[in-house]
Amino acid sequence: MEPEPTALALLLLGQQADPGSERGVECPGDLPAPSDPDLVSRARAAKEALGDRLFILGHHYQRDEVIEFADVTGDSFKLSQQAAARPEAEFIVFCGVHFMAESADILTEDSQQVILPDLAAGCSMADMAAIGQVEDCWRVLERVGVAESTIPITYMNSSAAIKAFTGKHGGSVCTSSNAERSMTWAFERGEKVLFLPDQHLGRNTAVRDLGLSLDDCVIYNPHKANGGLTDEQIRTAKVLLWRGHCSVHGRFTAECVDDVREQVPGVNVIVHPECDYSVVEKADQVGSTEKIITAIENAPSGSAWAVGTELNLVKRLAHANPDKQVVYLDKTVCFCSTMNRIDLPHLVWSLENLVAGNVVNQIVVDPDTQYWAKVALDRMLALPGPAPSQD
Ligand code: 13P
Ligand code: SF4
Repeated sequence: MEPEPTALALLLLGQQADPGSERGVECPGDLPAPSDPDLVSRARAAKEALGDRLFILGHHYQRDEVIEFADVTGDSFKLSQQAAARPEAEFIVFCGVHFMAESADILTEDSQQVILPDLAAGCSMADMAAIGQVEDCWRVLERVGVAESTIPITYMNSSAAIKAFTGKHGGSVCTSSNAERSMTWAFERGEKVLFLPDQHLGRNTAVRDLGLSLDDCVIYNPHKANGGLTDEQIRTAKVLLWRGHCSVHGRFTAECVDDVREQVPGVNVIVHPECDYSVVEKADQVGSTEKIITAIENAPSGSAWAVGTELNLVKRLAHANPDKQVVYLDKTVCFCSTMNRIDLPHLVWSLENLVAGNVVNQIVVDPDTQYWAKVALDRMLALPGPAPSQD
């Protein structure tokens, strides 16, 4: 029952550009062919040549071929801490998606350069909240008279502009590892939370962790006048959930949980909090990618796990834990197509350019956005809580 991607699914989900969610980006110069048998030795040689000048960060959803070259792997929270902890590295190559590289640029010294090996590695969830829409939403809250008592919390999966907006309005960033602490922090400072852009993480945190009711949460739809809400609904809601979601985690349904329980007796179901509330409610455990890894690593030999998160990570977990049964929660496979944009040819291309003295695909956040986004990121990093484990 180990998930094996079919050629068709790979074509649809992992290998080809998705014009709905990705910008096509040409790499200047020659991108090595994926079939080049020397890619691994070229990556090794470039990494060795750069030595301590280079630090490679790899998100858990990255391909194996890329993870192999990461100096540190982690979830969004751990990677943001690690980016800030290497002031001596001249180049931070971020194997992840655009918003993560932006956060790394914000958290690192001005002298450090952050590189995203493929600029088409975006995030469809982050794209669901545009800064103009969020400013419109805030004007609605001002008109209704609740802006002063509302604290914005934005998930890490958002643009630097949204993080800066959050910082300017007294709010904080959160990741899936610390959403509960961030929301608790927000309610210590205000009466209402505007949670951006993932409605599912916001709802799961408010209801499951903070004990609010589903009725305390309303969805703010940026495509509708007044967010699709009456003034009264805005006034009485405790949490305004931005209407955004992750298309990868949106594939998991409550039926998937029922099916796997039927097929694998005694299975433990563990899911990411970007999944729908109905899925999280049926699961045995919920947590960030880092928490999912730790739970399975520490599980007794012979135990069975169905995992509701991105496929690259689930496949790696299955291989790293041969004494346990690790299966994918959905019947059909699902990579994050934008995470998958970072492949070995792009990594080799960016590293070899650095060796040659060309900084390619640098991610630069403008100083004003950087200042306010850092305010919001620093509030998150200052939250009390366990330090993430080191690799
Ligand atoms: P974490 O690694 O923080 O759990 O986030 C998952 C994710 O979807 C990143 O895009
Ligand atoms: Fe964005 Fe979802 Fe991909 Fe994470 S898994 S980068 S939230 S689309």
